[in-house]
Amino acid sequence: MNTYVNPLRDPLDRRLPRIAGPCVLVIFGVTGDLSRKKLMPAVYDLANRGLLPPGFGLVGFARRDWADQDFAKVVHDAVKENARTPFREEVWQQLLEGIRFVPGRFDDDESFERLRRTIQDLDTERGTGGNHAFYLSIPPSGFEPVMTQLRRHGLTERTEGNWNRVVIEKPFGHDLASARELNDVVSVLFDPHEVFRIDHYLGKETVQNMLALRFANQMFEPIWNNHYVSHVEITMAEDFGIGGRAGYFDGIGIARDVIQNHLLQLLALTAMEEPTSFEAGQLRAEKKKVLAAARVPDRYDLHTARGQYAAGWQGGRPVIGYLEEDGVAHDSRTETFAAMRVDVDNRRWAGVPFFLRSAKRMPRRVTEVALAFKRAPHLPFTATDTAELGTNALVMRIQPDEGVTLRFGAKVPGTQMEIREVSMDFGYGGSFTESSPEAYERLILDVLLGDPPLFPQHEEVELSWRILDPVIEYWAGLEEQPEQYDSGTWGPASAHDMLARDGFSWRRP
Ligand code: BG6
Repeated sequence: MNTYVNPLRDPLDRRLPRIAGPCVLVIFGVTGDLSRKKLMPAVYDLANRGLLPPGFGLVGFARRDWADQDFAKVVHDAVKENARTPFREEVWQQLLEGIRFVPGRFDDDESFERLRRTIQDLDTERGTGGNHAFYLSIPPSGFEPVMTQLRRHGLTERTEGNWNRVVIEKPFGHDLASARELNDVVSVLFDPHEVFRIDHYLGKETVQNMLALRFANQMFEPIWNNHYVSHVEITMAEDFGIGGRAGYFDGIGIARDVIQNHLLQLLALTAMEEPTSFEAGQLRAEKKKVLAAARVPDRYDLHTARGQYAAGWQGGRPVIGYLEEDGVAHDSRTETFAAMRVDVDNRRWAGVPFFLRSAKRMPRRVTEVALAFKRAPHLPFTATDTAELGTNALVMRIQPDEGVTLRFGAKVPGTQMEIREVSMDFGYGGSFTESSPEAYERLILDVLLGDPPLFPQHEEVELSWRILDPVIEYWAGLEEQPEQYDSGTWGPASAHDMLARDGFSWRRP
C-alpha cells in the first residue's frame, strides 16, 4: 500500500511544531523553587500548546509525605501562579491523569523501588513507551546517590526502541576538578548523548536570535571582528538580592553562579565562527574553539573586580546588605558582583577585550551583549560638532526589553552641524505578535525530543571552569572583603577603574 505523503509537508521545515513522543518525566527536587517557578509551569505550557503527547507522565520525587493528589495540587498552584499561557481546564485534566508522586529519600532502596513501580505502572497505563527522562533539579551532592539507585533498581535499562535521558541543572561542580568528578558519576550510567546539561540562557529566544542575527544576515559579518569592534560588554544585572537562596549562593558567588555558564555561553555565541550547520556537534565544536582560546589576562588585580552589596535603596525601598541576609555568614567573602576581562586569542578577536559583568542589586534587571565599535579613523567635523557623538554600538538585548539596538550618530535638526547619538531599534514586542516561549519550555521539549544543540557538552563546561578557576583562586587568596557597593548602584569603584585602565567605561543599559 502506498503511504500518503503530504506534498505541503517538508520534513526539513523547522517551522512545523515538533511534538514529543510518549514518555515519563521524573523530577528529583520537585519541592524546590526552580520546579515551582519554572519546570512545572513549563510542562503545563507545553501541554497547552499541544506539544506533549497524550501518553505523558509527570513524576515528582521528594522527601515530603505527599500522596499523588497533594502533589497534583502543588503543580496546579504552580501552574496557576507561573504559567505563561492561560489556564485551560481540559488541558489540566489531561495532564492530571499522568501526575504521580513518590515520597522518598536518595539513600533509601525502598523509595526507589516505589519509583520503579510507579514508572512501570505509568508505562502500562499511559502507554509512555518505556521512555524516561530523569531531571536532577538537586544539589550536585545528590547526583551520586541518585545514579547509584537508578542503576540498582534497573531504572535506566534500555530495551529495543526506548530511551533514557538525564537532565542536569547547574552548577556543574564548583571548579574544574569537581566538574570532572560529577561527569564521571553521571557517565557511569548515561552515554554523552543521553546527558542534557541545562543552561537556561540557551533556551531564551533572544539568545537564539544571536545566531539568527549573525548568520542569517550579510551586513553584520564584515564588521564582526577586531578591525571594527573595539570591545564587547556582556552584562547580566539583577535588581534584587539573593532572597531566600543563601544556602545555595553563599560560598558559591556570582561568578560561579552565572559567569561560568550563562555569560561564557553568551561570549561563545558572540565570538564563534559560523558553524556548518546547527547540528549539535557542529555548534558545540565552534563554541569549544572559542572557549579554548579564551582567558582572563594575567594580573587579576587589574583585569577583574568583585564586590558585595551593602544596604541601600532598591525600587524606592530601603534594603539590607548581603552580610545581613538570613543564612549568610557575618564575615562572608562571597561576591555578589563580579567583572572580568576575557581575551579571545584568535585572528578575529585578538586585541578586542570582552568585559563580562554580573551582579545582584543593580539599579535595573537587564541582560545584554553590546559590541562597541571603533571611532571612524577621520571625522571631517569640528571637535564641537561631534562632542555628543558616542560610540557606535550594536546591542543585543537579551532581556527584559527583548530586541536589538543600533547606536550611531545623527545630525541634530538645525542650521549648524551637530552630531548626537541616536538609536535604531528592533523590539520583539513591536515586530511579532507571538509571545516568546519560556526558556524552560523550549529546553524541556528538546530533552523529550532528544534534540541536543542547546545543551552544553561536558567539554564546554570544563573549558569554562578552566577560564574561571584561576580568578576564583586569586580572589580566595585575598585578605580583604570584596569591595562594598550600595544596593541600587552599578557596582564597586574597582569595576569602573578596571575598564578605565583600558580606556573604556561600562554602558549604563
Ligand atoms: C540562574 C542563577 O541560573 O539564573 C540565578 O542561579 C539567577 O542566580 C538566574 O537569578 C537568572 O535567570 P534569568 O533567566 O531570570 O535571567
